Amino acid sequence: MKILLLGKNGQVGWELQRALAPLATLVALDRRGEGGLAGDLSRPESLADTVRALEPDVIVNAAAHTAVDKAQSEPGLARAINAEAPAVLAREAARRGALLVHYSTDYVFDGSGDAPRAEDAPTAPLSVYGQTKLEGEEAIRASGCRHLILRTSWVYAARGGNFAKTMLRLAREREQLRVIADQIGAPTGAELIADVSAHALRATLQEPELCGTYHLAAAGETSWHGYACHVIAEARARGEILAVTGDGIEPIPTSAYPTPATRPLNSRLDTGKLCRAFDLMLPDWQRGVTRMLDEILPG
Ligand SMILES: NC(=O)c1ccc[n+]([C@@H]2O[C@H](COP(=O)([O-])OP(=O)(O)OC[C@H]3O[C@@H](n4cnc5c(N)ncnc54)[C@H](OP(=O)(O)O)[C@@H]3O)[C@@H](O)[C@H]2O)c1
Repeated sequence: MKILLLGKNGQVGWELQRALAPLATLVALDRRGEGGLAGDLSRPESLADTVRALEPDVIVNAAAHTAVDKAQSEPGLARAINAEAPAVLAREAARRGALLVHYSTDYVFDGSGDAPRAEDAPTAPLSVYGQTKLEGEEAIRASGCRHLILRTSWVYAARGGNFAKTMLRLAREREQLRVIADQIGAPTGAELIADVSAHALRATLQEPELCGTYHLAAAGETSWHGYACHVIAEARARGEILAVTGDGIEPIPTSAYPTPATRPLNSRLDTGKLCRAFDLMLPDWQRGVTRMLDEILPG
């Protein structure tokens, strides 16, 4: 079996290189490509040549335009990467009967209410990023290819930049921090996403009726403020020297921190369908965050 992985150096892509390696011959590309194979999603049609040259059984697309605020000012590029490239991959997967595994986001929803969203809840993106990710999903579903679309939220990894690392840096530099407390979701580790992807991919190859769209996020919920408090408390417990004071993490509303892209207030995803279909349990978000801190904090 042969797997083509795109976006190999992103948070999820890096962990997929580990998790997919035991399953098949893995050809992993970043945007520069390799050995004459193109991996740049901003040139969607070049990906068709890659798929035709490699003839993979499974295509895993971990690449995306994930800069949510920047996407507002470069919608053409965001659309090429998040919508047109997945459409080409889906067309080529359908042509050769390959399985396409693709990632999407809770940002396809408008974030109203406070209930976790199921897969079939109405979509209504608030940003260019959310809109283009939704268009990518829709192109895949319309292509008729066998697919798994895994929507996730608030991704972090030990490798690369993320919210937890930013909070640690700011907590070392400043006595006071202001952190958004009215956006609610579940921080989800790239390790967990990659491991669940490997399980789901194997099961779906055996049972094609498992194809479809699923929500994949860690269990539990918090706000960005709750997440920051957890990270800073864990860092303090490990003896990190921090400038931020005990009561120095101020909860603020989204309205006090305007950004170019509007974010959903409710990022909760109902993961019941995934757990039932693949017989999986998703750990609480704190477990993966604590493990990531064990990896990145010295001592
Ligand atoms: N990050 C989140 O909080 C989050 C939340 C929900 C869903 N998701 C979804 O989860 C998936 C994985 O995201 P992630 O967190 O791993 O994102 P990430 O760390 O930002 O990685 C994205 C990867 O895509 C690559 N990429 C960007 N433009 C490209 C292009 N033109 N051609 C080829 N590769 C390109 C990036 O390469 P460079 O490093 O070279 O730029 C990077 O390696 C994505 O589908 C994303 O939409 C992410």
